Amino acid sequence: MVSLRSIRDYRRRRRQERRDRPYADNAFPHRLDYRWEDIRYNRVSLINAALARRGGATARYLEIGCAGNACFDSILALDKIGVDPARGGTHRMTSDAFFAANDRRFDVVFVDGLHEFAQCRRDAVHAIDVCEVGGFVLFHDFLPRDWRSANVPALQGEWTGDVWKTAFELASSDGIEFKLVEIDHGVGVARKIRQDWRYADRFAALQALKFKDLYARHRELPLIGPHDALRWIAA
Ligand SMILES: C[S@@+](CC[C@H](N)C(=O)[O-])C[C@H]1O[C@@H](n2cnc3c(N)ncnc32)[C@H](O)[C@@H]1O
Repeated sequence: MVSLRSIRDYRRRRRQERRDRPYADNAFPHRLDYRWEDIRYNRVSLINAALARRGGATARYLEIGCAGNACFDSILALDKIGVDPARGGTHRMTSDAFFAANDRRFDVVFVDGLHEFAQCRRDAVHAIDVCEVGGFVLFHDFLPRDWRSANVPALQGEWTGDVWKTAFELASSDGIEFKLVEIDHGVGVARKIRQDWRYADRFAALQALKFKDLYARHRELPLIGPHDALRWIAA
């Protein structure tokens, strides 16, 4: 007898196949073998470490993309701004609209808004511009698990998009130090070291890359474990 569960599984697979079909060129059989569920440090640990380095609870914090405030409400800062056009945070608007009107500076910024390369790199430039020298800008989702997580547009709930391409630009930018921490789907951390920093524009070379290219080249990125990251942030 055919069980209800096997019918549901069959239908789920068929729906997935229909969603995947237009993106057959992006499909790739291998995954980055990080087991995020076994690595208990997450983005919140690093953001709080960066805030501690910048004076603790009185340091100024900005989050781009807040959703259900899972991160925003866990951040140990008194002075917090959260920007999201849909929900969460304190400002109901896009990051572009926020930065166009903003005249404040911040000690720590977390970029986790629209997960598309063009938007993420624009958020990166704006965030580093409004960050104090010595402050930190962190980024979520720079190490997607597989091609489906990284596909644009999103094919499923767990979606990193192609913001990982921004990591290659940050890694070769001047006036910042950049590390990619191997926790929580990849957390990028940039420390601003000069006011006259310069973003490395490699858009033309990166734009068309696919997950398989990240799989082949991710060891070129400045990967670092959570303990080394904490030592680097605290130094
Ligand atoms: C992955 S969620 C953020 C999760 C949250 N930072 C956390 O760690 O729990 C991404 C959020 O970005 C928001 N978003 C989408 N486009 C945006 C934009 N242009 N500017 C700012 N936020 C945006 C979405 O509404 C969504 O809530």
